Amino acid sequence: MENNLGRCFNADDTVVDLIENDYNVLTVLSRFSLPLGFGEKSIGELCEEAGINTECFLLIINYISSGKIDSKYLSEVCPTDITYFLRNSHDYYLNYKLPHIRSNLVDALDESQRSINPMIIRFFDDYVNLVKKHFAYEENIVFPYIDSLTHGSKGNYNIDVFRRNHDYEIEEKLSELKNIILRYYSTSQPSKMYDALADIYNCEEDLTSHANIENHILIPMIERIEGRV
Ligand SMILES: [Fe+2]
Ligand SMILES: [Fe+2]
Repeated sequence: MENNLGRCFNADDTVVDLIENDYNVLTVLSRFSLPLGFGEKSIGELCEEAGINTECFLLIINYISSGKIDSKYLSEVCPTDITYFLRNSHDYYLNYKLPHIRSNLVDALDESQRSINPMIIRFFDDYVNLVKKHFAYEENIVFPYIDSLTHGSKGNYNIDVFRRNHDYEIEEKLSELKNIILRYYSTSQPSKMYDALADIYNCEEDLTSHANIENHILIPMIERIEGRV
């Protein structure tokens, strides 16, 4: 999703300009639970109304649309604002995006492929289980550690453990699923399967962007704080 070409935005730019510049930010707005109906609202006004830290919002949005990370914001933004966004993102994937893709995938299955269909659904469900496990580790171990770190207590964890183990097992599983469909699945209703595939590719890209926010924004932020505590 990061394209390294997009422009960077500030608090005075309008939300509509932001979206028109790169519609990929729509999923970010959705994960911040921001309501539609923006009118001429600026990014700063929107964040203030929604009770979201504007610098945190700009840090994430600008990273997604330009690939750039403003180091000024990196030291100014509170990591718990980032973990709030990441938790919301987990909720969005598990309770909205992935169930939505699963139901499109089930709908795209063809009766004539009875021998492959259960395998496709099993691969998808295995994939979702891996995603759940990955998110649960972050929510039960990493984010609580970050909470306590921001309150001044170091505890017995270290963000380097997360950095070394933040793996890509999830993406491999999804590649296996895409391969089966692309190579072996012929269907009488290809449009539905093309749609389901596009959803899967989209979600994969989105999850990579999510992992990049953790790797390139959250981890460096915590490393700075660990150096001070
Ligand atoms: Fe995450
Ligand atoms: Fe992650």
